[in-house]
Amino acid sequence: MATKTEPTKRATQPKGDSVGRSGSTSRRDPTATTPVVPGRSETRRVTSDRQASFTVPTLDTDDGTAVANFLQDRLVSMADLASVLKHIHWNVVGPHFVSIHQMLEPQYEGVQEMVDELAERVATLGGVPRALPGAIVAQRSWDDYELGRADAIAHLGALDLVYTGVITGHRAVIAAIDDVDPISQDLLIGHTRALEKYQWFVRSHLADWAGGMSTAGAVTEMGAARAVLDKRPPAVGRRTS
Ligand SMILES: [Fe+2]
Repeated sequence: MATKTEPTKRATQPKGDSVGRSGSTSRRDPTATTPVVPGRSETRRVTSDRQASFTVPTLDTDDGTAVANFLQDRLVSMADLASVLKHIHWNVVGPHFVSIHQMLEPQYEGVQEMVDELAERVATLGGVPRALPGAIVAQRSWDDYELGRADAIAHLGALDLVYTGVITGHRAVIAAIDDVDPISQDLLIGHTRALEKYQWFVRSHLADWAGGMSTAGAVTEMGAARAVLDKRPPAVGRRTS
């Protein structure tokens, strides 16, 4: 008979875009990391970003906090992605306007649903989900999407890179919380499956019959947009000589 439970693999705090980056947590809640001293000032407080005293069953609060922070990291990434999808939906132009404008609407709705599920899981774990614009800007490590009004194929080249970044982050967290919280991991796996399908929709516009990608080698959104425009075949009927 087993007399001792194997210690669970402890989740480590997310790095980079994680909660608390740039000191946002301490700025919002100066007492978040210090003991609460009952007194007049404490009784006047009406809000807190502190981890709750509870988390989900079988996790201790340290692991609950760590997993919630990982999910907060992904929440920021997904809320940003939702904005990017709407931005492209509004700013795509050219002969393929209708197909891309319409293709992105269900992707936006799907991502918004995932944002809600992530935020509710953070709260379930005892955390405080934050996806207001200020929180997104404070916690993300990237700049705004680079393109404004642009051809459909240019936006798709850039969007492919956006999806790669989000999916890479999801897969990293899936690995990080393995053996710690299979429920949160399952949520992220489901989301990643959908995101990879969305990226396939995008990539199918950029791939050729031989399997090549017109964005190959691009590392920035603007670079990807330029790459696909450079490789676009000449317009039908256009004479070069
Ligand atoms: Fe619309």
